[in-house]
Amino acid sequence: MTLTPQFLDELRHRTLLSGLIAKTTKLQRAGKEFRACCPFHNEKSPSFYVNDDKGFYHCFGCGAHGDAIRWLTDQRGLPFMDAVKELAQAASMDMPAQDRASAARAERAKGLHEAMADASDWFVEQLNGIAGAEARAVLAKRGIRAETARDFGLGFSPDSRGKLKDALKTYGDAMLVEAGLLIGVDDKTPYDRFRGRLMIPIRDPRGRPIAFGGRIIGEGEPKYLNSPETPLFDKGRTLYNLDRALPAARKTGRIIAVEGYMDVIALAQAGFGEAVAPLGTALTEHQLERLWRIADVPVLCFDGDAAGQKAAIRAAHRALPMLAPGRSLAFVTIPDGQDPDDLVRAKGPAAFEALLRAAEPLVDRLWSHELAAEPLDTPEQRAGLKARLADLAKTVADSNVGYEYQSEFRRRFDAHFAPAPRVFTPRSPRKPGQKWTPPPEPPSASARALNSGGIDRVLAKAVIAGLIRHPAEIARHMEVLGSLRLADGALGRLFEAVIDVALEDRTLDSDRVLTILARSGFDSVAADLLRADMVSFSFTQRDADPVRARADLDEAIAVLVARPMVDAALVEATAAVAARFDEAAFARQVALVRERASLEARLANLMLDDKENSQSA
Ligand code: UTP
Ligand code: MN
Repeated sequence: MTLTPQFLDELRHRTLLSGLIAKTTKLQRAGKEFRACCPFHNEKSPSFYVNDDKGFYHCFGCGAHGDAIRWLTDQRGLPFMDAVKELAQAASMDMPAQDRASAARAERAKGLHEAMADASDWFVEQLNGIAGAEARAVLAKRGIRAETARDFGLGFSPDSRGKLKDALKTYGDAMLVEAGLLIGVDDKTPYDRFRGRLMIPIRDPRGRPIAFGGRIIGEGEPKYLNSPETPLFDKGRTLYNLDRALPAARKTGRIIAVEGYMDVIALAQAGFGEAVAPLGTALTEHQLERLWRIADVPVLCFDGDAAGQKAAIRAAHRALPMLAPGRSLAFVTIPDGQDPDDLVRAKGPAAFEALLRAAEPLVDRLWSHELAAEPLDTPEQRAGLKARLADLAKTVADSNVGYEYQSEFRRRFDAHFAPAPRVFTPRSPRKPGQKWTPPPEPPSASARALNSGGIDRVLAKAVIAGLIRHPAEIARHMEVLGSLRLADGALGRLFEAVIDVALEDRTLDSDRVLTILARSGFDSVAADLLRADMVSFSFTQRDADPVRARADLDEAIAVLVARPMVDAALVEATAAVAARFDEAAFARQVALVRERASLEARLANLMLDDKENSQSA
């Protein structure tokens, strides 16, 4: 079925978003909008806003953002089409007519769903019956409690070629084969696919069984037998346990991907309900995309064996092109050849929690993998590493993130291999008394423009403007902001005032902050900062994309904080080189000059060019 943009627009238009959201989330009126504690992340004071005029919701805390359809897919976990159907029904709109083929497909899918549900119930019955004694013993030995088995719908398929087929015979062989429950080869009589296995139903986001994983009882091959792909089951688009993990992830604000079904189940029993698993394959782009809709930085938790480590690096490479500001991956490696199931059983939930907290950022994982991949004894080998790192960074599609990867890899490479300066060798000592200062790197045009106005002042003004525009961000940056001392009197006082106002009431929006500032006589200073002809950043603009503004503001604050430290260190290093040349001091000076240039480049990167500027002004 094809849905036209006109149809979807009409649907959005007829849906009162606040009414839809209010069904599950308590909303408070706030001027023309509504606000609430964000249902997508855990918070105590509301930063989630619903705007009926625009038909959008937005959370200033976690960036969750979308329209009525997105609400149903993300908050309720419905597939897109089901979300549209539900809204259309509520708005008394007829869905566009289905063509015959898709109507027939929908009818058949309905039959398949019923067959899978009945099969699942039947497997559960078998587990609880006489035939299931051995399987129950296996579960008990693995420490799986009866209620966990029930929550996950675990079952048992008896060792027979015809018992399931017989139990479900009303569906007919053809449908059971299509559902993957029977194996039908050529003209031979179809027979039960799963025989003598512990049955793990794989559920869709609505909790309906769409496939099974069957684990052998005891030893044997294959360890897991899985359903084939069927009209209901697309392996690469399915994550095991997504339906149960979504609400848990919303509470904890994180999502964990592990390797196996039993890992997911054991983690849930240990209190980590927010775990999912791919189905015996590497994580696909689709699955990554799905994870990113739940959390900015999904944690991938792989086994410590070689296969697990390969899977981790494969996921890292697959993720690179898809990165965006703020969006990354983190990695946990389970030590001692264990998997998460073994770990929580042996050492308890606290041990796993500790590993999660120490998760390794994506950039570290890539760096250490490349560093260990080949020997690095010769210049050629080192150049090879440098080229591999640069190639990796080039695969990042987002230009800002790609740039950061390039410079981060370069910094790490230099720090790793360049303790001694290349310009001077011990055989060409400087003449006594001769001073040396490192050549300044040619600054980019925008960095030059910034420099002429005084980088710190321009940046400080922009950051304050950004905080006024996005007061919800202040709490998140409190620690670093608190450590900043702005030299200039009026600016410094405004800065303190903005922070005070925002901390007093964390739910204030930008307009309220401005009103309160005006009351303390800050109106002209503040208005000046928000003028459109100031050097422009996404976060100083009135109608910027909030996700980008937030990421850019993070980056600007990081630069603002780092800059005086680098400057001070550079003054010190330059004095040290002038006093007595030695290679270590010189190397440090060179590194700091680079560091400063990189801060400037990061800043220049944030500045909107004239085109972007005039669009949003
Ligand atoms: P593992 O071999 O790590 O199994 O496979 P596991 O989860 O630790 O299982 P236990 O603890 O030995 O029972 C991880 C995942 O790879 C897929 C399954 O999805 C499994 O959960 N797999 C593994 C298969 O599909 N087929 C197999 O034969 C083995
Ligand atoms: Mn295991």
